[in-house]
Amino acid sequence: MNFNTINGTEAAPDVAERESAYREKALSEFEFRLLRDYIHDYCGIFFEDAKIQTLAIRLSSRMAVLDIGSFSEYYNYLKFHPRGGEEMADLIPRLTNNETYFFREINQLSLLVARLKEKIKKDGAENFQVLSCGCSSGEEAYTLAIMLEEAGVYDQCKVDITGMDIDQKILQKAESAEFTAYSLRATGRETADRYFLRDGEKYLLNERIRKRVRFVRGNMIDRHPLGMFKNVDAILCRNVFIYFSDSAICRTVESFYETLAGDGCLLLGHSESLARITDIFITERHKNTMIYVKSEK
Ligand SMILES: C[S@@+](CC[C@H](N)C(=O)[O-])C[C@H]1O[C@@H](n2cnc3c(N)ncnc32)[C@H](O)[C@@H]1O
Repeated sequence: MNFNTINGTEAAPDVAERESAYREKALSEFEFRLLRDYIHDYCGIFFEDAKIQTLAIRLSSRMAVLDIGSFSEYYNYLKFHPRGGEEMADLIPRLTNNETYFFREINQLSLLVARLKEKIKKDGAENFQVLSCGCSSGEEAYTLAIMLEEAGVYDQCKVDITGMDIDQKILQKAESAEFTAYSLRATGRETADRYFLRDGEKYLLNERIRKRVRFVRGNMIDRHPLGMFKNVDAILCRNVFIYFSDSAICRTVESFYETLAGDGCLLLGHSESLARITDIFITERHKNTMIYVKSEK
């Protein structure tokens, strides 16, 4: 393959054929480690040894588009070619899991809303900042906006909600605020009627709620995107660390620590834990949920 002739954005007619041929190719253990480590260093996502075949399948779809016939050549392309950065951006959506839905793990979000209300009452807080890191198509951030609206928080103060994700494609979906019934599978009928307009198979989110959330592209293991934020009241990073290595989690939560206000909190997914990884956050247990708060470093 001649790198100069590559056009990664236009799929050749025989891409599908090439993809199925590449899927059959064996990814050697050596190539697997090179690519797996490169991806891990870039974004924290870690493919365990048992996932060699999964990674091979995901890479082969991009190799077919670029007409790159071997995994080591693809590694060199990612690492050394001038378009390697763009290629990583195209590869990312094939590596991530974007599963999300409205009103997911709701007890934790209710607790967050109650905490913010308490801060208004006790400290007269007038501004809040919340980050949804690994926001996917926006359901989590928009759910929080709906819940804050229902709780009357917007009548009392300003809340900036930012969704951040590494995957540019999924952020376009988030910004469009168009969903399917699948995203609303845990949303009550009344809430759906109040906040969504039905257009055939699509559910269009109410414009007022849509405007309450903004989205930015950012890689959370890179300190720079998080460095744009200071004194954040809450970071939601739910169902992201299940795909990260412990070292990547450690690196990321150190940035979260710097980004959060002293009394800020961190929300992880139910199946995720910082125990045995770091002690810079401690758990705060509540009746049917838990959150993390900063410990004295
Ligand atoms: C399973 S979704 C979680 C969505 C939502 N937080 C929830 O719990 O419903 C995981 C998201 O994390 C994003 N992600 C993975 N690695 C990331 C990174 N290094 N920086 C920012 N986002 C990342 C993925 O693109 C994906 O959209």
